[in-house]
Amino acid sequence: MDPSTPAKAVKHVVEAAAGKVADALTPDVPGAPGSAPPTVEEPTTPHDPLPPKPEQGTPDTRTPTGVATGVPPIAKGQQGAYLTTAQGARLRDTDHSLKAGPRGPVLLQDHHLREKITHFDHERIPERVVHARGTGAHGVFTGYGSAEGVTKAGFLAKGKETPVFVRFSTVLGSRGSADTVRDTRGFATKFYTDEGTFDLVANNIPVFFIQDAIKFPDIIHAGKPHPDREIPQAQSAHDTFWDFVSLHTEAQHHTMWNMSDRAVPRSYRMMEGFGVHTFRLVNAAGETVLVKFHWKPKLGVHSLTWEEAQMLGGMDPDFHRRDLYDAIEAGAFPEWELGIQVFPDTPEETFAGIDLLDPTKIVPEELAPVQPVGRLVLNRTPTNFFAEVEQVAFHPGHLPPGIDVTNDPLLQGRLFSYVDTQLTRLGGPNFAQIPINRPHAPVNDMLRDGFHQHAVHAGVAPYRPNSLDGGNPFPAGVDDGAFVDVPVTVAEAPKVRANPVSFDDHFSQARLFWLSMSPVEKEHIIRAYTFELGKCYHQAIRERQLRCLANIDPVLCAEVATGLGLPAPQPTVPLADVAPSPALSQVGGEWPADGRTVGIVVDPTSDLDGVDQLRRAVFGAGMVPLLVAPHGGTVGDLPAQRTFATGRSVEFDVLLLAGAPTPAPDAIPARDAKAGAADSVTVDPRVLLLVEECWRHAKAIGAWGDGVAVLREARVSGTPGVVTGDSGTEVFAAVQRLMAAHRVWERFPASVA
Ligand code: HEM
Repeated sequence: MDPSTPAKAVKHVVEAAAGKVADALTPDVPGAPGSAPPTVEEPTTPHDPLPPKPEQGTPDTRTPTGVATGVPPIAKGQQGAYLTTAQGARLRDTDHSLKAGPRGPVLLQDHHLREKITHFDHERIPERVVHARGTGAHGVFTGYGSAEGVTKAGFLAKGKETPVFVRFSTVLGSRGSADTVRDTRGFATKFYTDEGTFDLVANNIPVFFIQDAIKFPDIIHAGKPHPDREIPQAQSAHDTFWDFVSLHTEAQHHTMWNMSDRAVPRSYRMMEGFGVHTFRLVNAAGETVLVKFHWKPKLGVHSLTWEEAQMLGGMDPDFHRRDLYDAIEAGAFPEWELGIQVFPDTPEETFAGIDLLDPTKIVPEELAPVQPVGRLVLNRTPTNFFAEVEQVAFHPGHLPPGIDVTNDPLLQGRLFSYVDTQLTRLGGPNFAQIPINRPHAPVNDMLRDGFHQHAVHAGVAPYRPNSLDGGNPFPAGVDDGAFVDVPVTVAEAPKVRANPVSFDDHFSQARLFWLSMSPVEKEHIIRAYTFELGKCYHQAIRERQLRCLANIDPVLCAEVATGLGLPAPQPTVPLADVAPSPALSQVGGEWPADGRTVGIVVDPTSDLDGVDQLRRAVFGAGMVPLLVAPHGGTVGDLPAQRTFATGRSVEFDVLLLAGAPTPAPDAIPARDAKAGAADSVTVDPRVLLLVEECWRHAKAIGAWGDGVAVLREARVSGTPGVVTGDSGTEVFAAVQRLMAAHRVWERFPASVA
């Protein structure tokens, strides 16, 4: 698919919406599994495997040593019409073991049984020690050429297109944990450049908990579940986390971000990404600059409310994964611009007094604007999650010529850690040959043998210098495109286990972040600290963290202390005199709403022609309409995607009411507990609950026709962000304008300035 296609519903979805909606068996919203609709009867006529779905991508077909094979990607998957063993022998039966008679014991000679069970026994590989829960997609990166003056990296050249694979993740949870937990998100990008793979292993938060990699096991041990009971899963609201961050105060800045809305993103598509560390770029003339990498999402930065995040943890633990894949399938391709903040490469490695080697510090964008250097579009979902998302292996040391590391002590430790852990996770040293990890540049290393070696190396001399293989491989010169380590001067100094003095400031930028927030964002931060510390058992830990907050801001400290029922302590260091950075706030702009979900409540007496027109308008706007009906199947000719029993407000970005459904037969607490949450004899109580929750979560709500009566019944008519009109399309147009601001912020009155 051409990634430059506008982010609108893709052809097959639009066609389905326009022509096939009467066929209830044809799913017309994204998410249906399989590339062809199943038949009711089991298929029995042999045929080749079905092709992947149109939006699915797969690793390029390269040799283990990086050469394009020209083989179609489908050749990597299963072949032929018939079931076979792993050796390709056709099988007649996979449902019965080979036995000595129908009632006899199973025979050891049943190779198929043993092969099938043995392989199954080893299907799981160890999950990542951090960032275990993740999801990924394929895409393309296009350089703008604007970085050509500062780096010779070829993938940033004007118009140059480079395939990429991106993996988003949470940090703390296990592989099966919920997507919407409060946590930092990983944002790791593999650029398959012609000059060797570049991995930008980034997070959605621009600072880190620690300044030195030697502390990484400590922060992760503190954040992971308690080792005795393995509780709680995937969250920081527990004693060991707060014990560590309140004692190791360099963590306070990152912790502030984690207590902000940034830690509960609405979607992976709506997150910024940050390389965190300062990197060094080198251009063709050998000149260097220092830079920080930023990803800027086209859709803006948006978050869930804390209540939505908690509800989704139960309702749809795969919320972010589903959102990413459904958006790509609907043609609403997620987009980011890659940008760099550029700083002179001075011996001090500071900018505006900020130490560029300290990964707990940002450089505000107001001091060093982010300059766009290229565009990323994600346009393919994986064909096989395990082969691609689980087996992908990133490394901050995978750098093409033109990009080099700095002495940031956190980055230096990372350069060791990733390969080390992947040796175990991926079962040996040859994981670079797994299809998703294969470089797109020719590989001629002297690494040999080992578990799972896929390359068939020729020659006799995997060493240098040699004469027996004619001297190959030869060292490349700078003119041959060799990676050159920038010869940075290392100051003469004693060997120490110590930080620079500039690393001692632990509170000023936490204060900068707090002061940059809008009132509603400050309320959310107060609530998050109060919630998390309220979950700790030990008062000493709460008191110690309040002392840290006192050094950040007295209002924040006092409000959290009130919530905890504790006195607010006095600061122990002078409050930093810092200028806010408006760029850090998420509230106040307007953004496209591509790929958002629109819940439409219908019943058989609704204006169904109007609903059909509305659905087409929603698809046409690059969003996904989900019909919520009293029962499954169809309403008129329209397929219902949710019922009042299966749907919940947190699945929708906006709610539109096309009718005022009377209570359905299952609207009784014995059948659906939600039915007991409101009392109405005229409108189904689950519909009133939908309205109540959407209102409380500051989502736009619209109604026309009979639907207007629901607004009255729910007592929300005429309140901010609640619109009515003569038709569904008119109401949708008004709601779209509200969606541009993400939420109806007026519904969240703030008590702090
Ligand atoms: C700025 C700081 C850091 C950032 C932005 C960061 C980011 C990430 C990301 C995004 C992943 C997930 C990669 C994937 O999707 O497969 C990851 C994994 C990992 N990180 Fe970090 N990390 C940071 C610091 C560290 C440090 C200091 C260490 C160790 C000293 C470390 C060790 C690991 C390990 C072991 C994994 C699992 C890798 C695997 O199993 O493939 N990280 N990190």
